[in-house]
Amino acid sequence: MLLGVNIDHVATLRNARGGSEPNVIKAAEICENNGGTSITTHLREDRRHIKDEDVRTLIKTIKTKLNLEMAMADDIQKIALEIKPHSICLVPEKRQEITTEGGLDVAGQIERVTNFIKPLIDADIIVSLFIDPDTKQVEAAAKTGAQFIEMHTGRYSEAYGTKNEEEEFQNLKHASELAHKLGLKVNAGHGLNYENVHRMHEIPGLYELNIGHSIISRAVFTGLANAVREMADLIK
Ligand code: PXP
Repeated sequence: MLLGVNIDHVATLRNARGGSEPNVIKAAEICENNGGTSITTHLREDRRHIKDEDVRTLIKTIKTKLNLEMAMADDIQKIALEIKPHSICLVPEKRQEITTEGGLDVAGQIERVTNFIKPLIDADIIVSLFIDPDTKQVEAAAKTGAQFIEMHTGRYSEAYGTKNEEEEFQNLKHASELAHKLGLKVNAGHGLNYENVHRMHEIPGLYELNIGHSIISRAVFTGLANAVREMADLIK
């Protein structure tokens, strides 16, 4: 199973101060040098973390693959067609595009999704749809021409360690089985962390996990001791 690292939160921290620290390009390089098999960034319509110039630079510097998360917005589609990431993952941003559980509502707008992703597929960009592990959504995704789904693991992650964990996990397993039967490849992500990620190995054929928040959060603590020590040494 491959690991796509979502570096949006590095940009969130950078934007808190303006300027360029912590540097998103450097963060991507560190992820790639330490087992990350792709770099994921979400170019949001409100540009709250990743900016246009980040993806324009990343596409030139990344040695693995750039996976661009994006909404069904024409201006973002234009950027994707221009920079040509390895893959895009279509995610909901507007309230009416979101299912009850949080993935993209493909079943409610198959034609719109199909038409939106066609130019991207025609441009040889791999297209993934971020959906709930739900039969209806998986069947709809298979009709759009997308090659991948990314299963939303948020409900599983929240239920981990509770009485609902098994049910949420089985939803993921069944959705993945169905997707594979329908010829889709399957990624997963959202809310996965150092405690709950191990069960992803129980889902046969999962291709890549996209993980952001838990990795960046962990990095604060695995890096904090060194950072303080370096500063203490400097001011001694
Ligand atoms: N996959 C998708 C489609 C996402 O939108 C996100 C969150 O940006 C992730 C994976 C990563 O989620 P997390 O930051 O909770 O690991």
